[in-house]
This record gives sequence, structure tokens and C-alpha cells, in this order.
Amino acid sequence: MQSLSEYAEYSETSCINVMPTRLIPDMLDDVRESLLNRPRTLSPKYFYDERGSELFDQICSTPEYYPTRTENTLLSQYAVDIIKKTKPEQILELGSGYSVKTRRLFDACQHISHNCTYAPFDVCEEALVESAKKLSKEYQWLNLKPLLGDYNAGLGNLPVANGSHLYLFLGSTIGNFELHEANDFIEELYKVMRKGDNLLIGVDRVKESEVLHAAYNDAQGITAEFNLNVLRVLNRELNANFNIEEFSHSATFNTHKERIEMRLVSKSDQEVIINDLDRSIRFNQDEEILTEISQKYTYKGIEEMLSAANFSITEHFEDENAYFSLVLASK
Ligand code: SAH
Ligand code: TRP
Repeated sequence: MQSLSEYAEYSETSCINVMPTRLIPDMLDDVRESLLNRPRTLSPKYFYDERGSELFDQICSTPEYYPTRTENTLLSQYAVDIIKKTKPEQILELGSGYSVKTRRLFDACQHISHNCTYAPFDVCEEALVESAKKLSKEYQWLNLKPLLGDYNAGLGNLPVANGSHLYLFLGSTIGNFELHEANDFIEELYKVMRKGDNLLIGVDRVKESEVLHAAYNDAQGITAEFNLNVLRVLNRELNANFNIEEFSHSATFNTHKERIEMRLVSKSDQEVIINDLDRSIRFNQDEEILTEISQKYTYKGIEEMLSAANFSITEHFEDENAYFSLVLASK
């Protein structure tokens, strides 16, 4: 028989599947379309298998990757204000990962004795389960509801029960969308929100290209490992035979588009077989796969994106270098 405490752990760390509200291609069709055609691209969501999520977590503590530190400091400074102002019954986080920075908000809740539910939403089940286990021990008052799903498949089936919601979209993950996709996403989010709900979004700002370049080319090579890891995912999931050694990491700042562009570059002329697609791909030396963009925003750009979706901006916090913005907006 299962004891009550085991049951509690089980119920708090198993995930609810969030069903898609629109059809998106499965991995096979997606990779066929994006990798076999030129320009070759891969969707960033494939980075995040268990190892990918762990590597991303390590990127966040490299000395070069300022966004995490800066956002964490802003959250530490303003979390109590944010919780007092929004009084959320549920905190729902999009792309929650290991919910590291989110703890600043839970600390604030604890500080003012405010109880709430936390619904982390992510594609990476391992990250959701592991952090739910840790959170349930660290914050025993927190009611956990991990949500497993793909936010590209629509937000319409998010379980948004009664009560006021604080939506979180941290880590400048919005920057991983093309500009028009980012606008659409913010509009879609606005539609699922109810009057009185709030959104707290963390957005990385345009800055000196040296600082940006270093952040995506850390000296320890963790970002390179993270980028290359997507090829391991393809090897495993699609029975491909990418030789990881034969590709290199590239991250450059496109000053015209004000975004970091992450690529994998073929070191040689080579052929790769993707068994599940019944296809091989010939890569010329120096041929590239675009794996991720990280759009940087201006203060004005962020406010325009939110206003265009009808949000009212309540607070716009930034650090002294204006490296990062944390914006609170309401419907
Ligand atoms: N919020 C964390 C993690 C950011 S990394 C932070 O600020 O540090 C981006 C996160 O989004 C990862 O945890 C990844 O698994 C998740 N993610 C990426 N694409 C996603 C998708 N299509 N749907 C849901 N989650 C996604
Ligand atoms: N949202 C993060 C960002 O744009 C994702 C990220 C950080 C990332 N470093 C990366 C994605 C390296 C791919 C490769 O900053």
C-alpha cells in the first residue's frame, strides 16, 4: 500500500499533459522540413532533453552569461513589490526549466505569508519532475502543478482555473522567437489571460556586441556543448549518425537585426544519415545549420510589443547598466 507521504510526493511531481490547441509537426516532419531544405535550421525546443536542460543550467552560472545573474538580482530586489501588487492565486511560468530564479518570488510569498499554486510549464519532463521534487521540499506550502507541453502548440488548453494569475516568461526566452512570432505569442497569451491577471516578462536588451558575444561564447565551452547537444538528440531520436566532432559552435551578433544567431558549422565535406527519414544529408565544409536566435530588445521595443497586444505596463525594472528588463504588465 502506498503511504500518504509517498502519495503526496507522487501527486506533486507527476505532470499534467497540456494538449495542443493547434496542429504542429512532429519531430520527424519538422526536421525533414527544416534540415533537408536550405537555409538549414532546427527548432530550439530540441535542445532541451535532460542533458540539454542541465547544460543550459550550467550556462546560466558562467561568468559571461550576465542575463541570469542580472534578472535574478532584479527579482530579488522587486519580488516583494511584485507579489504585493499582484497577489496571485496561481503563478504560471512558461518555459520554466529548473525554476531557479522563480524561487525569488516564492521567497517573497513566504516573506509576506502569501500562499499560491505554482504551475511550471515546459517541454522538458525531466526538468519539471526534478524541480518539482526539490520545490516541494523547499517550499512545503507551495501547491505544485507541473504542466508538460509545447507552447508552440497553443496556450488555449492551459488549465487556468479560477483566481488571479501571474504569468511568468523569464530568461529572455521571448528572444528565441522571430520578431513577428514574438508579437503573435504575446497576443495569444493576452487572449488566454483574464482581466486583472498579470504578466512578468524578462527581456534581454541591446548592448555592446562584445558583451553579447562573450555571453554566447563562454570560455569553458558550455554553450558550445549545449549547441552541439542537439545533434545528439537527433542521433538518438531519429537514428541519425551525426559525428559531433565534425561540427563546431558559432554564435555571432547580427548588428542589423540586433540578435545573436547560433549556428552549427560543418568542419568538413561530409554525409550524415538520418535513418528515420530514409535520407542522407550532404554538408559542405563551412555549411551552417541555424539552431537558435536570441533577439535583443530596446526599452521602447519591449513596451511597443506589449502595448501592441493591449497590455498595460505597470512597472519596467532594469539594472544600472540597462542590460536586462523585467516588465510587469496587466490585462
Ligand atoms: N526560465 C528558465 C529557463 C529558460 S531556457 C530561465 O530563465 O533560466 C528555455 C526553457 O524553455 C527551457 O526550460 C526549455 O525546455 C523550455 N522550452 C523551450 N521550447 C519550449 C516549447 N516549445 N514549449 C515549452 N517549453 C519550451
Ligand atoms: N533564452 C536564452 C537566451 O537567448 C537561451 C540561450 C542562452 C541559448 N544561451 C544559449 C540558446 C545558447 C542556445 C544556445 O539567452
